[in-house]
Amino acid sequence: MKAAIYRAYGSADGVRIEDVPTPEPGPGEVRIRVRAASLNHADIYMLRGWPYMLRLQSGLWRPKNNGIGLDFAGEIEKLGEGVADLRPGDAVLGEMTTPFSGRTRTIAEYLCVPAVQAVKMPSALSFEEAAVLPLAGCTAMFAVHDFGGLRPGQRVLINGAGGGIGVHAVQLAKHAGAIVTAVCSGEKASMVRELGADRTIDYRREDFTAEDIRYDVMIDLVSSRSPEECRRVLASDGRFVWAGSMESSPVLGPLRPLLRMASASRGAPGQRWDTINRKTISADLMKLVELHAEGAFRPVIGLRYPLAEVADAIRHMETGHASGKIVIAI
Ligand SMILES: NC(=O)c1ccc[n+]([C@@H]2O[C@H](COP(=O)([O-])OP(=O)(O)OC[C@H]3O[C@@H](n4cnc5c(N)ncnc54)[C@H](OP(=O)(O)O)[C@@H]3O)[C@@H](O)[C@H]2O)c1
Repeated sequence: MKAAIYRAYGSADGVRIEDVPTPEPGPGEVRIRVRAASLNHADIYMLRGWPYMLRLQSGLWRPKNNGIGLDFAGEIEKLGEGVADLRPGDAVLGEMTTPFSGRTRTIAEYLCVPAVQAVKMPSALSFEEAAVLPLAGCTAMFAVHDFGGLRPGQRVLINGAGGGIGVHAVQLAKHAGAIVTAVCSGEKASMVRELGADRTIDYRREDFTAEDIRYDVMIDLVSSRSPEECRRVLASDGRFVWAGSMESSPVLGPLRPLLRMASASRGAPGQRWDTINRKTISADLMKLVELHAEGAFRPVIGLRYPLAEVADAIRHMETGHASGKIVIAI
């Protein structure tokens, strides 16, 4: 089968489409004919081997697992021993939560995963739409509901609203009845408003931390402002939910803003400061699929690439200015 493969830590330039053996499902596993996969920043960190301490898990000198991709959507093609609740032909979506196993990853024609990691896909979704949901959709849901606890009428600010997580967080926040302020570049303002934002702030022109407004919940996907600056516009009993940063380095990866946040949040009585650090499980995906069926959101795909152009897709994601999700059609 064909799969996106990298043999050494580095950049997208080292990613090739190779012929590799088609994986066989072990006991409790299923083999999936992957139809679509989506990219996440985690794929880039694993490709680079950043932060370096990640290599204790992923392979010290060279990657133990040469595949790319965590999110997938496709059809069950073969069942391993003991799998009872899925059938060949079932359409499924999921996130590969054991990326350092010996298994090939999701940007490949075939994938083997434990059956519990494959959730049946509703027919209302296309494979490409389903493939964008697992990591980004669940992170958006965790941010809005589990950590943000957003209630009708509350004010929420979403920083990084035009990217893969942001476009879903905006919709979920609006569906929860919140008043949504979205921070994104001016070019994305009309898309983000169309998704439900009540107001957009172009971060290249305005500083949201300098305004005279207090937010009940702030969801930060980019760490463009320090925690001290953000605290100025967070209500005294508000919640700050941190998901990630566009800043990264070989030694600390995206951890520097996380450490900054952890220390700043200690001096904030009354406020709650959280980092999203949950692994997606199938129950989360089922809840997200239910929210989709209720009309809470629609999957937003910014760009589609064929398997042969996966390196270009990674380069685009690395710019930090993606619009919605990046999908690889397989
Ligand atoms: N904690 C978790 O479980 C978890 C899970 C998944 C991802 N993450 C992290 O969450 C972060 C966001 O992921 P993503 O998939 O949404 O990324 P993405 O698709 O690359 O989107 C990032 C967005 O941020 C915007 N942006 C860049 N600089 C900005 C700034 N200064 N102010 C406001 N917006 C800015 C970009 O668009 P424009 O600049 O063009 O507006 C882009 O739309 C990443 O750091 C990722 O590693 C965390």
